[in-house]
Amino acid sequence: MYDGGKIIIGLIIGIGFFTSPFFFNAGKAARRPEPELTQKAKDAKECVLETSYMKSSHMKLLDEWRQTFVRNDERYFTAKSGKVYYKSLQGTCLDCHSNKSRFCDQCHDYMGESPYCWECHIEPKESK
Ligand code: HEC
Ligand code: HEC
Ligand code: HEC
Repeated sequence: MYDGGKIIIGLIIGIGFFTSPFFFNAGKAARRPEPELTQKAKDAKECVLETSYMKSSHMKLLDEWRQTFVRNDERYFTAKSGKVYYKSLQGTCLDCHSNKSRFCDQCHDYMGESPYCWECHIEPKESK
């Protein structure tokens, strides 16, 4: 036979624990990432591709740029808007998003991602 009373008390404590702010704040980074735009990005108004695509798939775009740049020597990317971008991680992405720590790293730190690109590519110098 089981002890119904204890199970119910256990459930109440359990629910209390899982819904308490302590639980959600436990461990790392409780704050949701809030990537900041530089003035330059704000002025440009849009990214290389639509924001929804950039949010989920910027790594695919970077990979594609890298492959086509290095292997096929294709150095320019034409956006749907007709705007032409030089395919460069440092020279293009990080020129506009020059606040790497408050943009890229906001999400990456939160997700526990640390792209190894910066072993070779140079991070922008940021003024704090
Ligand atoms: C081992 C060193 C190394 C690492 C690590 C590395 N790259 Fe590169 N990458 C290079 C070199 C060398 C070039 C060629 C540069 C040239 O020809 O001007 C290049 C070129 C590129 C280019 C096109 C040109 C440019 O200036 O950006 C892109 C985009 C790129 N890499 C993205 C990435 C990304 C994204 C990562 C991380 C996921 C990464 N790379 C990691 C060495 C590296
Ligand atoms: C000329 C400026 C400019 C360049 C170059 C640029 N971006 Fe953006 N990026 C923006 C702007 C502006 C937004 C926000 C668009 C919006 O709010 O709809 C954005 C949004 C993003 C987002 C989504 C951010 C979020 O809050 O979810 C990612 C990720 C991103 N960019 C990565 C990149 C990468 C990677 C590159 C290079 C391949 C790049 N950007 C090149 C201006 C730029
Ligand atoms: C809106 C949040 C967000 C922003 C802003 C953002 N990233 Fe990411 N990035 C992610 C997530 C999430 C992943 C992991 C996705 C996965 O594993 O499928 C990722 C993965 C990557 C990867 C692949 C890492 C690997 O090891 O394969 C690269 C490269 C990268 N991001 C570059 C950038 C650069 C450069 C910027 C700034 C210009 C940037 N990201 C801004 C969320 C973001």
